[in-house]
Amino acid sequence: MLTRREFISVPLLYLLARNLEAFAGDTPEVFPQGVASGDPTQDSVVLWTRIEPKVHESMKRDLVLEISTKPDFSEVVQVRVPADRINPSRDYTVRLTIDGLKPGGTYYYRFVYADVPSLTGRFKTLPVGSPEEFRFAFITCQNYADGYYSAFRHISQEDVGFVVHLGDQIYEKIYGPPRVPGRDLNLPSGGKIALTLEDYLYLYRTYLSDKDYQLARAMHPFIYIWDDHEYANDYSYDYEGGYYLLPGHPFYRKKVQSLALRRIAIQAWLTYTPAKVKVDLDSRDPLKWITIYRDFKVGDLLHLICTDERSYRTPQPCNRRYADPGCPEQRKTSMLGKEQKAWFFRKLEEKGYHWKVWANEVQFVQGRVNGLFGSLDAWDGYAGEREEIIRFLESKAIDNLVIISGDRHAGLVAEVPDKFEGDYQKVLAMEFMTPALSSISAAEATWWRDYGVSSHVEFAQVEKNQNPWTKYLEHKIWGYSVLTLTKDRAVGEMFSVDKYKKDAEKERAVRAVYERGKRITLL
Ligand SMILES: [Fe+2]
Repeated sequence: MLTRREFISVPLLYLLARNLEAFAGDTPEVFPQGVASGDPTQDSVVLWTRIEPKVHESMKRDLVLEISTKPDFSEVVQVRVPADRINPSRDYTVRLTIDGLKPGGTYYYRFVYADVPSLTGRFKTLPVGSPEEFRFAFITCQNYADGYYSAFRHISQEDVGFVVHLGDQIYEKIYGPPRVPGRDLNLPSGGKIALTLEDYLYLYRTYLSDKDYQLARAMHPFIYIWDDHEYANDYSYDYEGGYYLLPGHPFYRKKVQSLALRRIAIQAWLTYTPAKVKVDLDSRDPLKWITIYRDFKVGDLLHLICTDERSYRTPQPCNRRYADPGCPEQRKTSMLGKEQKAWFFRKLEEKGYHWKVWANEVQFVQGRVNGLFGSLDAWDGYAGEREEIIRFLESKAIDNLVIISGDRHAGLVAEVPDKFEGDYQKVLAMEFMTPALSSISAAEATWWRDYGVSSHVEFAQVEKNQNPWTKYLEHKIWGYSVLTLTKDRAVGEMFSVDKYKKDAEKERAVRAVYERGKRITLL
């Protein structure tokens, strides 16, 4: 189990000049999952890598981290990680929080093990003051078996300050044979669903064996939140029983096993995710084991608020059936939980930023097709609390909000209206949902047949007609999105990258411009 020593906070030790000729190239045999940075602030960052166990067990060397403001590492700061800190309890990974950096700086880093350097990584600390412009990328849903990660290669080339991962970084279940060659997954326990720590670690390790994913993690800091599949599909919390409900799972309504699995899922997430979050696995309250909701500030331009929409949610209403009418429970459910909601409202109200961006995992705006809701697992199942958020935005006159979302495996752009009726008067925010990076979409599934339509294309058309706040909806798309913020405008761009091709090009699917409180313009 992890302890509070989880994060190794180290001072920067010493500066030294070094000839770098000997340190070129990447070395997968020593660093098979590459390097990563995460959770940047004005003066700190989290750096991560993993050493190949066979190499470490045979050599038992210290690991050296080098950080430099120069791409040629002509001046470096070194941090030494003792050999005994690299061990099986963390699956041979190392995570370091580095403090004392300068705001708005570009830094290069690499790990060196027994004179062998890793891939060189790069990160930027967040700026202070009044930046003219800030761009960041965001992604969701990257099932390894469902497609290639060409989108990550394009992300690695984007000029962005960070990448927000909205969740489904792994999928705990193997849904069938891979959709592209060479992406087989075989859980160590032999089943089709992760039930052991080794299963979850195997998934992270295998997903991270992909070179395009490694490249994106090396080139930009990542800010990770999670969706459901980092633990179990569509999970929720049973407040009376004090444990998680995992529908359709072998541990459904099994308190001891579902809580043990929760600890395992958290441990695996922490092992492979370069995040700085509060962890207290000794707490008697499972809701206190990990707190991933947190916020980031980019000068006075952006306040990024990240929430956790899985860990505290009450069960989906109406047994997750999508029928309408007859689901009054939708008004009584909570997605955020009491404590997180109070925190979220406080953060929304914090003044002094041109833009607020809410990193929200699941679709916020209503989506009802021929009388049926698209998903009661998204905010439609939590309509009472959504209403509370809308009234809060309205009463506080907050209109500088962009909601970024994922989970649905579709691309969507919507005006968040003051009410979900055709003749809505006000636009309170823009919702910009990024499509799955590689996971199965409606174009490959058949669930749309339940809605009395003849294709996923017709489904999208009917959803737009019947939900007029939704301005753009596309099911047959995979890729990533970029948000560019200037003082006056938030511009969302969705990039389509064919997951079936290893060398796919990117193509812009839609560009949406939002000026606070105005109608969205699509280009
Ligand atoms: Fe997903």
